Amino acid sequence: MIIKPSVIGLGYVGLPLFLKLQKKFKCIGYDNSISRVSSLKKCIDTNKEFLKKELILKNKSFFTSKLQSLKTSNFYIVAVPTPVFKNNMPNLEHLKKSCLIISKVLKKNDIVFFESTFYPGITENYCAKILEKKSKLKVNRDFFVGYSPERINPGDKKHSVDKINKIVSISGKENLRIAKKVYGSVTKKITLTENIKEAESAKVIENIQRDLNIGLMNEIYKVCYKSKINFYSVMKLASTKWNFLKFDPGLVGGHCLPVDPYYYSDFAKKFGIKTNVILSARKINNSMYLFMYDKILKKIKDYKLDLKKSKILILGLTYKKNVSDIRNSFALKLFFLLKKKIKNLDVSDPLIINKKIQNLKIFENFDIDKYDLIINFVNHDIFKDKILKIKKKKKKYLDLF
Ligand SMILES: NC(=O)c1ccc[n+]([C@@H]2O[C@H](COP(=O)([O-])OP(=O)(O)OC[C@H]3O[C@@H](n4cnc5c(N)ncnc54)[C@H](O)[C@@H]3O)[C@@H](O)[C@H]2O)c1
Repeated sequence: MIIKPSVIGLGYVGLPLFLKLQKKFKCIGYDNSISRVSSLKKCIDTNKEFLKKELILKNKSFFTSKLQSLKTSNFYIVAVPTPVFKNNMPNLEHLKKSCLIISKVLKKNDIVFFESTFYPGITENYCAKILEKKSKLKVNRDFFVGYSPERINPGDKKHSVDKINKIVSISGKENLRIAKKVYGSVTKKITLTENIKEAESAKVIENIQRDLNIGLMNEIYKVCYKSKINFYSVMKLASTKWNFLKFDPGLVGGHCLPVDPYYYSDFAKKFGIKTNVILSARKINNSMYLFMYDKILKKIKDYKLDLKKSKILILGLTYKKNVSDIRNSFALKLFFLLKKKIKNLDVSDPLIINKKIQNLKIFENFDIDKYDLIINFVNHDIFKDKILKIKKKKKKYLDLF
């Protein structure tokens, strides 16, 4: 069998995967966003993860929004978003749409892999059912489904897709062999399993564990702050114990950690289990920006600054450091909350491409001498030199944590 892979969804997960695959195979990069495909064709990654030269394709691979182009593929990899609705219930709409698209071109012996994060059973009990219904083909007889969770960390150059240990799960020895060939061109570190539900569980609990650990640190941070005990000194001391796990407190934004616990909780509910521990960490992390709001206002008062006259600058609005993504950004939420209180509040974030968010002007550059106080929300590396200058000039400055 000549493997002809395609990647459905060319975002933070799909694009790096596609770029690796196209080095070995003629690969089709499909995205239903015409603007995303059009900029990729011009070698522009609006997520700022890849440079122009890295988007020059090999092996006659190409980007497309045309469903017909997928007809020649026989190994589909789906990397579309899995958000939650306003009530925190899983929103599988993108997944459903991508399955409907694939079902129109699905043929005998094709393999469909999923990379999106969701809860156990979605690959076999949800996606495969949509694929079956529309294609009139039978799963595990005519076509096969697999799951390979993505562990990529946007903004993190150290843990790129080729250096990550990747779980690859699909039933049947021959399918595992084919999947190993495909994913082996992405990374050399592969963990194979035939149990898809276990692979789905592994991914979602990895993110939950991180969310919980940060939630715990956030809670301890609050106690330390109120009791005037230095949190970082406490951490330093506690870290001298051999089995103490060090995590940083923070505003947990983005579309993984603040979302995935709700997927798992919904899954657990089906078995009558209330995930109290998981959801309480989510609650703490969701409300941390309100604690920071109070902390900032107190600091402004301590500095004897006037909320109506003083000029204050915020550094960074994205959901975490070194990324351009503002989805589920608590830095953004905190900014808008402060904007209601502080008359002259400016913001700079050179990483955000679309500088117009709700009529907000986001500065690319700034003059530190213009401001009475500068507050660092998101510790982008790009701010390092400016922060050094601010400190050297002994300007009023505050790190969020
Ligand atoms: N971003 C991360 O750090 C990360 C890490 C691990 C796992 N994940 C998971 O991977 C999945 C994708 O996340 P992402 O960050 O890459 O999302 P993203 O929003 O960056 O990209 C998704 C892409 O899919 C496209 N798309 C949406 N619906 C489509 C459809 N029906 N057909 C074709 N294309 C479609 C969008 O236009 C977009 O370009 C999610 O389930 C997420 O939870 C994300």
